[in-house]
Amino acid sequence: MYSKKVMKYFRHPRNMGEIKNADGIGKVGNPQCGDVLEVYIKVGKNKKGKEILKDIKVKTFGCIAALATSSVITEMVKGKTLNEALKISNMDIAKELGGLPPIKMHCSVLSAEGLRKAIEDYYKSKKKMN
Ligand code: FES
Repeated sequence: MYSKKVMKYFRHPRNMGEIKNADGIGKVGNPQCGDVLEVYIKVGKNKKGKEILKDIKVKTFGCIAALATSSVITEMVKGKTLNEALKISNMDIAKELGGLPPIKMHCSVLSAEGLRKAIEDYYKSKKKMN
């Protein structure tokens, strides 16, 4: 049912945990299955002065696909600018994993949404500071 890559990320998830003093936190849950995801980001700047995701960690309480998608997304976006990261869709995540069973596509939506919320949270707290 799952691709080899999904199982690989499920068995050895990357960047799991939380970041103390995170710049943004995104918490999302899926009311249907009850799975929960927390995304922590640390923002830095690249050589051109653009804001990038310097670090990202996730805490996932969910199914195999939730774990694999939230884990692979951390590797897909690390070092990317916030705008580039926002453009990553759940389809991109599923593709990166070699596909997901149709009934598991919503798990990738959860991961993409968690990341978006964490970035939004960062922008919100930045506004408060200015
Ligand atoms: S079944 Fe809930 S996120 Fe996968």
